[in-house]
Amino acid sequence: MIDSATIARIMDTARIEEVVSDYVSLKKRGVNLIGLCPFHDEKTGSFTVSPAKGIFKCFGCGKGGNAVHFIMEIEQVSFTEALKIVAKKYNIEIRERELSSEELAQQNDRESMYIVNSYAQKYFTQQLKEHPDGKIIGLGYFHERGFRDDIIEKFQLGYSLDQRDAFAQAALKAGYKKEYLVKTGLCMQQDNGQLTDRFRGRVIFPVHTLSGKVVAFGGRVLKKTEKTAKYVNSPESEIYHKSNELYGIYFAKHAIVKKDCCYLVEGYTDVISMHQAGIENVVASSGTSLTTGQIKLIHRFTNNVTILYDGDAAGIKASIRGIDLLLEEGLNIKVLLLPDGEDPDSFSRKQNASEFISYVEAHQTDFIRFKTNLLLDEAGNDPIKRAGLIQDVVRSIAIIPNNIVRQVYIKDCSTLLDINEEVLVNAINKINRQKKEEQNKAQHQTLSTTENKTAQDSANSVNSETSLLSGSVVDTETRNLLKVMVRYGERTLFSLEDGSNQTVGEFILQELGIDHIVFENPLYNEFIEEYRQHQHDTDFIAEKFFKFHPNSALSQLAINLITEKYTLSKIHYRFQVSENAKIKEVEIPTDADRLYELVPRLILELKNSLLEEHIRQTVLKLKHACEQKEDMSKIKELMDYCDALNTIKRDLAKSLGDRVINKL
Ligand code: CTP
Ligand code: MN
Repeated sequence: MIDSATIARIMDTARIEEVVSDYVSLKKRGVNLIGLCPFHDEKTGSFTVSPAKGIFKCFGCGKGGNAVHFIMEIEQVSFTEALKIVAKKYNIEIRERELSSEELAQQNDRESMYIVNSYAQKYFTQQLKEHPDGKIIGLGYFHERGFRDDIIEKFQLGYSLDQRDAFAQAALKAGYKKEYLVKTGLCMQQDNGQLTDRFRGRVIFPVHTLSGKVVAFGGRVLKKTEKTAKYVNSPESEIYHKSNELYGIYFAKHAIVKKDCCYLVEGYTDVISMHQAGIENVVASSGTSLTTGQIKLIHRFTNNVTILYDGDAAGIKASIRGIDLLLEEGLNIKVLLLPDGEDPDSFSRKQNASEFISYVEAHQTDFIRFKTNLLLDEAGNDPIKRAGLIQDVVRSIAIIPNNIVRQVYIKDCSTLLDINEEVLVNAINKINRQKKEEQNKAQHQTLSTTENKTAQDSANSVNSETSLLSGSVVDTETRNLLKVMVRYGERTLFSLEDGSNQTVGEFILQELGIDHIVFENPLYNEFIEEYRQHQHDTDFIAEKFFKFHPNSALSQLAINLITEKYTLSKIHYRFQVSENAKIKEVEIPTDADRLYELVPRLILELKNSLLEEHIRQTVLKLKHACEQKEDMSKIKELMDYCDALNTIKRDLAKSLGDRVINKL
């Protein structure tokens, strides 16, 4: 566990814009920075970073938080792990307190797997550099291929000895658990329980995530004559989903942003050789066709992708399908066909970076044009094949999201294919209409299932008498109140007669206390309790206190509250309409000037909706009692109770109304 002083130091030091821009390319927009959200699929940026506030917020998917939350989300790690990553970035020394045995046991699988992989990577590298076999066989192989030592070092290449369980033995001896050696796929467990090394006798290519963690390994055989597969790779695991990783992305991300372009190649060796030649904006799909996850990873950094192909036509055709996904994602795609017999590995070896890049500039073609020409060659004069080809090209154009880009392609292809533009446009429209219909159908289906689900949910809560305070109106009203607390809690609301001041927070706590209001969501209660305890700390500013709170659930809640708009209830709505005579939802002005009016009203509204909920539940009980023909006295009791509640409600409604009238 990291001690709280260290957490505070990390929170203070971390600059949200610096942390985020390791992953997302940001552009300045007023006081904020804006980029493509890494957490959902979008083509225009709604992901906003506020350096002044120290937080990020996506107005598309709603995710938001401080720098540590960002790391938690993007790296899918725990709060502690995220703190460590940020600390490392800023060279902050982490002081950890001793873990209790319970806490030790809680260290989750994922982190253990990362730790084992990191050990394995160092072990394989050490074998490569220090073990006689590693030096002769492994390092010898890399040198023979022309890999420089600095590049071998940079990509953390290694060697796994040609022995049954050399790695397993070393890892067990170093204290790593068998469980994680198997879960990461580094070792395989035999029926008799013994471990064997997966990568024995191979040179090792570690696969790094965006942030540089090793999640998998590729092991290549050394002798071409061997019958075994050229590569053995780590299996899918809790930390490794092949379809979400791109080989080389960790080493490429900065260069991709800088060059605003990403080269896409096939394999490990292509990436490494290109780096060695000085071209660093390059990633590999590792021999399989691209997935949407991988494409999104690229799209975080650039809109422009150039795919490098070796001259072999079969490979090109196989990968063309994957490229339609790139188009769909709105990326600009170019294709470069390398000279016959060359792959990026061999080709980049023969020239320096600037020669390579000028070759690319001179020879790359736009993907649609490339595809059209390729298919044209293939179809020849066969009319049926030509018709199929046109359909195929039209389908690719149809998925391009940008209208203007689509128009340009239609023009181009009309010339290339010698077909009237109008015919192409019609074909494209037809495809898009069909797609829309399918989408509507799918959407309709999901909608009706969610409706059923909510109906069922409310039926459940009706039956369970315990959920007195549930219901989304109550939740909305509660959040409105908490929003005021976190934004303005320390500000003065009233001056009391004795000359002292009452703050917004004090007033709210007092009001909640009077009616013994406890929320159903434990996090809200925790928030209130934490507020109560710290409101009189020196220099207490609610927003700052909660935004960087060491309890990550609380800081996450606070940031959501800070960035969420007020949700207008029907009372606000009426109020706003009568005031402005506009039939339109208007955000409540949140000026500190209006707090004296806003805060009491929010409290009344919360109390009002709690009461309404309570009445609803009582009526249901009453109905139930009648149906079950229960004791008359019990029914009478419930009826009286209902009456009493309704009287309170009328009074409350009157005070709410009064306030509206007062304002007018
Ligand atoms: N690949 C794989 N398993 C295989 C073959 C290939 O995972 N049996 C993946 C690897 O990521 C490899 C990429 O596909 O890097 C490209 O394959 P290939 O061109 O055959 O390998 P290279 O890495 O280029 O190796 P080399 O140049 O040494 O032949
Ligand atoms: Mn190759």
